[in-house]
Amino acid sequence: MSTIHRIAPSILSADFARLGDEVKSVIAAGADWIHFDVMDNHYVPNLTFGPMICEALRKHSIKADGSKVPIDVHLMVSPVDALAQAFCKAGADLVSFHPDASTHVDRTLQLIQAEGCQAGLVFNPATPLDVLEWVIDRVDLVLIMSVNPGFGGQSFIPSALKKIEQARRIIDASGRDIRLEVDGGIKIDNIRQVADAGADTFVAGSAIFGKPDYASVIAAMRRELAAT
Ligand code: DX5
Ligand code: ZN
Repeated sequence: MSTIHRIAPSILSADFARLGDEVKSVIAAGADWIHFDVMDNHYVPNLTFGPMICEALRKHSIKADGSKVPIDVHLMVSPVDALAQAFCKAGADLVSFHPDASTHVDRTLQLIQAEGCQAGLVFNPATPLDVLEWVIDRVDLVLIMSVNPGFGGQSFIPSALKKIEQARRIIDASGRDIRLEVDGGIKIDNIRQVADAGADTFVAGSAIFGKPDYASVIAAMRRELAAT
């Protein structure tokens, strides 16, 4: 069975003064998901946007054929629970958090799913996958950070490849339908290597929003993914 690859542009690198139009443009350019980076100036040294912005963008995350593009919320916040629930209510489809930011990881996963969202766990470059074994039955998404969280435009950390391979083995052994997403420093010239390690979903911020023609970047990424 061939893997379904998804490209999730991170609006962290979009023009914040025109956020609705940026979301529409990147969807027209072929985005599969919209990646929404939430930073709290506490868990990470930066501050971005909250649930109200998510709610406002919801009506822009619709394709020309009327179908909805999932909003993939990446919480870089501590504490997690109240904001996770607020983002579900604001229209998120997937909500992921860093296990080291939550006191009770299993409970946080349950809270997100009880709100009708898919729940993901995010692992920093120096964080082991240990907790995954204990909650694999609840997780819908595993997100491997290939940069330290907090900023767009950083370089891919190569040790992430080994962690993606490890996560792929754990996911396959579970037999469950769990997406394996990678976030940080993804470009046209390394996306294939990341896919070969086992990732199926690719966050890209600066690589897409840093170029004038979003569609050509996304198309080039898909060509790399499709090449045999
Ligand atoms: C970093 C964020 C990433 C970031 C990726 O904390 O989680 O989603 O926007 O940006 P690029 O693709 O520029 O590395
Ligand atoms: Zn992110």
